[in-house]
Formats: sequence, C-alpha cells, structure tokens
Amino acid sequence: MIKTSKEIRKEFLDFFEEKKHQIVDSAPMVVKGDPTLMFTNAGMNQFKDLFLGNEPVKWNRIADTQKCLRVSGKHNDLEEVGLDTYHHTMFEMLGNWSFGDYFKKDAVNWAWEFLVEKMGVSADRIYATVFEGSADDNLQRDDEAATYWEKFLPADRILNGSKKDNFWEMGESGPCGPCSEVHVDLRPQNEIDKLSGAELVNKDHPLVIEIWNLVFIQFNRKSNGNLEDLPDKHVDTGMGFERLCMVVQGVTSNYDTDVFQNVIAEIGKLSKIEYGKNEKTDIAMRVIADHLRAVAFAIADGQLPSNNKAGYVIRRILRRAVRYGYTFLGFKTAFIFKLVEVLKETMGDAFAELVSQQNLIEKVIKEEEESFLRTLSTGIKLLDEIISKTKTDKKDTIQGKEVFVLYDTFGFPLDLTELIARENSLGVDENGFKVEMEAQKNRSRNAAQQETDDWVEIRKIEQTEFLGYDNLETEIRIARYRKVTQKKKTFYQLVFDQTPFYGESGGQVGDIGYIEFDGVKTSITDTQKENNLTVHLVEKLPEDPSGFFKAVVNYGRRDK
Ligand code: ALA
Repeated sequence: MIKTSKEIRKEFLDFFEEKKHQIVDSAPMVVKGDPTLMFTNAGMNQFKDLFLGNEPVKWNRIADTQKCLRVSGKHNDLEEVGLDTYHHTMFEMLGNWSFGDYFKKDAVNWAWEFLVEKMGVSADRIYATVFEGSADDNLQRDDEAATYWEKFLPADRILNGSKKDNFWEMGESGPCGPCSEVHVDLRPQNEIDKLSGAELVNKDHPLVIEIWNLVFIQFNRKSNGNLEDLPDKHVDTGMGFERLCMVVQGVTSNYDTDVFQNVIAEIGKLSKIEYGKNEKTDIAMRVIADHLRAVAFAIADGQLPSNNKAGYVIRRILRRAVRYGYTFLGFKTAFIFKLVEVLKETMGDAFAELVSQQNLIEKVIKEEEESFLRTLSTGIKLLDEIISKTKTDKKDTIQGKEVFVLYDTFGFPLDLTELIARENSLGVDENGFKVEMEAQKNRSRNAAQQETDDWVEIRKIEQTEFLGYDNLETEIRIARYRKVTQKKKTFYQLVFDQTPFYGESGGQVGDIGYIEFDGVKTSITDTQKENNLTVHLVEKLPEDPSGFFKAVVNYGRRDK
C-alpha cells in the first residue's frame, strides 16, 4: 500500500513525538514586524530568538510542519516553479529542533531511522553531504557529522560540500552553522549503472535531489560578517514534504504525488485538457497548482493581494498563474478560485485556516482574477504588437519604456513580460525598465502611501484630444479609469477620448468642472496632464462609465 501524503505527514510528527519532541503548529507564512523578512522562508524562522538565546526555551525539542514561501530575498525559487518538477513557491518544511539538547549524532541517527526504517527509502539510493570547511570563516571540515554517517553509508556516498551548499544561513545575518544534507537518487537502475549519483548531487538533476537538511546551529553571523559562537548548540532540520512524498510514493515529480494530483485533475476537468500529454500545458498546470497554494495560504494568513510590498508579491504570484491559464489552457474567465475547494479537501485537515477562511480566499482570488483578466487581454495584444515591431526592427530586446507601459498600464509584472519575450526569443531591457520605474516613483513622491489600481480600459486611445481652446462644453466618452486610494481617501482617475479640461502641467493649474449624464453630475475636482493623456479626478465613478457625457468646465482656474 502506498502511503498517502496525510499519512506521511502524520508519521513524521508521530516519529518525533515518540522521541520526546513537542509538536507545535506552523507559524503564519506571512511575517509581521520583522524588517528582514516578508514571508517565512524556513521552519527555523519562528525559533530565531531561541537559538540566539534572546528568549527562554520552553521545550528543548520541537517538531512541526511549517508553511514556507520562497519568493523573495535570499531564498527565491519563483523562476524555477512549474518549469521543473521539484521547486515550489509555497511548500511544507518538516522540521525537528533541538534547543541546546541533542546535537549531530541523534540528528543523523534519527534522520536515517525515519527515512529508511519508517519510510522505506532504499538505503543504497541515499547520499549525505558534509561541510568541507572554509578558510574565509576559519572553519574545519565537519568530520564529526561524517563519522555518524559512516555508520550507515559507504565512504563514497558521503560527499564534501562547499560553504554555499553546506553552511546554512537564514539571511545576511542571524543564526547559522554547518549542515549535512540528505540526497536521494531516483533514477532508473540502468542510468545509475552508467553514471554514479555522486556525480549528480547538488547539480540540479530533477531525479537526484536534496530532501532533508540537518543544520547544526552554532554561530550567529553578525552584521559585520563575523561569526560569533552561540552559548549553546542547536539542531535545525528541514525536509521538503512534497519531495519526501515523491520519494515515498515512488513517482518522479512532486506534482505526481497526491499533494498536487487532485488539484491538477480539477484544472484538467475545468480546461478539458489532460495532464501529461503536452509539455506547455503541463507546465501551466503545475504553475497554477503551485501558485494556488501560495496565494490561498497568504490570504488565509491575512495578506491580501495589493500594490505594496508583501501584498504585491502575492498579487504577482496570482497573476503569473492567471496568465499561464489564459495563454496555455484557454481560461478567459476566472477559474483559480474554483480550485480552492479541492485544495481544502487535500490540506484542510492539517491546516484548519483553509477551512475557516475558504469563503474569503475564494472571494479575494475571484476578484483579483477578474480584474487582472480585463487588463490582460488588452496588454497581450499590445505586447504582441511590440514583439513584432521589435523583430521587424531586427532588435533582440524589448525597450525598458515599453516594458514599463505594460507594467504601469496593464499590470504586467516584469517577469510576465520577460516570460512572453523569452517565448519569442527576445530579451527585455531590465535596466531601462528600472530607470522608468524610478522616474515614476519620483513623480509620485508627493502621493505618499498611494495605492493605484490597474486601469480599466473601455476604449483604446493613443492621446486625449484637447478641445478647450474653443469649447468649454463638449461631449466626451471615458476611455479608461482607475481607482486610487490615498490615506484612506478613494478617488478615481478618468481619461477621456477628448476633453475641454485643461490639464495641470508646467505650473499651470488644472481645470475643474463636471461631467453629466441623464441629469446626474459628477464633479471633476482636478485635471492633470500625463504625457499624451489628460487625467481627470473624480470622487465617485459614474454608474455607467461606458456612454457619452456632457463635459463642462467651470471657469477660473487655468489663469491663476
Ligand atoms: N533551516 C534549514 C533549511 O531551511 C533546515 O534548509
């Protein structure tokens, strides 16, 4: 009988409970109040102060499964996700900890006992790595850890690893120490006969993968880069739950485990496309199945998608999923919110927040999807035009300015444009994009704490025609609008196809007045000029923004 993911998770926790570990809940995935971290990126984050001796130790042995998100900062896997079969944005990290209690010997013995005896992993497929030492930090090879592995493994399956792979650090500073990783070789025997797995450890082979990292926390990396001995020695381990399930369930992709298969089956049902038949649609399904989890758990932890910091990271992840669904699976309407139900069935018993917050998660995802889909189709058309033009001009990079327009007007994050560009064998001018971005930040420096939604485009225009030299009253139509929130105050920006309102520019003050439809007036409280477009400010959006309006300028402002 193949063990289910639910059984595997439970067996891990039971195993360490028997070894006198206190089982604790996962900390939230969204970190509040730590300026060095937006999201939990390792099981040990919540125990940082215990390692440093800043907080008293209540239980000196702990085990749990921790929701982690590696999409920013030192540990960032976003670009790999979906393209390969074993990276994730959100993943579960199974961990056991010792706070000044057991050290290397028990950590190694128990890792072996759990994997080989409890999980039935073939002993002859396992490799261990140990820290080779570092002259920079004046540290020796970790002979001690190697000795413990020698009890189980022949010498040629205990490999030395560099500081990059075998000295674990949470970030630029903080608790750290040498580590010993467990790798498993899942290739078919005939391939192993040709090339030893020892050659493939830590070489990004999808079937020779790290599953568990045993970190022996002994130091604090100070912000000046120096290592300081900690008063006690600790153990911090992290095992990729999804990878463990892949190994134990005898499959060759995390996405073929029951952690993901139900969600993928649901995507298949909704799109009427079968998983496993085509590389492009498979990647899209993996991206969506992965990103759904990151977004759902972030929302459950109180981080809604937004235009700021952590909220923007979540928005980008969701938009990446929407865009893959749109382009490769033909989803032209919101669909990701429909997958929350299956996710809840899969993970809700271990993470109660998915059950209690299901409605909120669905509602937020649906709204985000709908709003992004509106801009996506227009943006993709524009990007197609930009791509053909770039190719006609025999250039190999899309200009930063154009990338920025896509970002600013159509909500295309840089990585989305890069992705589509890459599919067309083009690069993007990242530096040029950054320059544009910086310029925009300067423009809006007075608009502190302003959140700006995406434009909703009603009709395409290149520029607003100014009619105000001859007319102070004209008929106009709204071409696009967007919502802006500033210090809890909400207003809307409207762009018209033509306008009698003079826009603020070069020291001139913008016109004010109103637009009117069916006897209902909406006041224009300010008008600004932004390149070729004139932007009008209103406090309330007209009920039906799609029709014709009478636009009337009140006198007086433009001459001041
Ligand atoms: N803290 C270690 C890691 O995240 C276990 O890999």
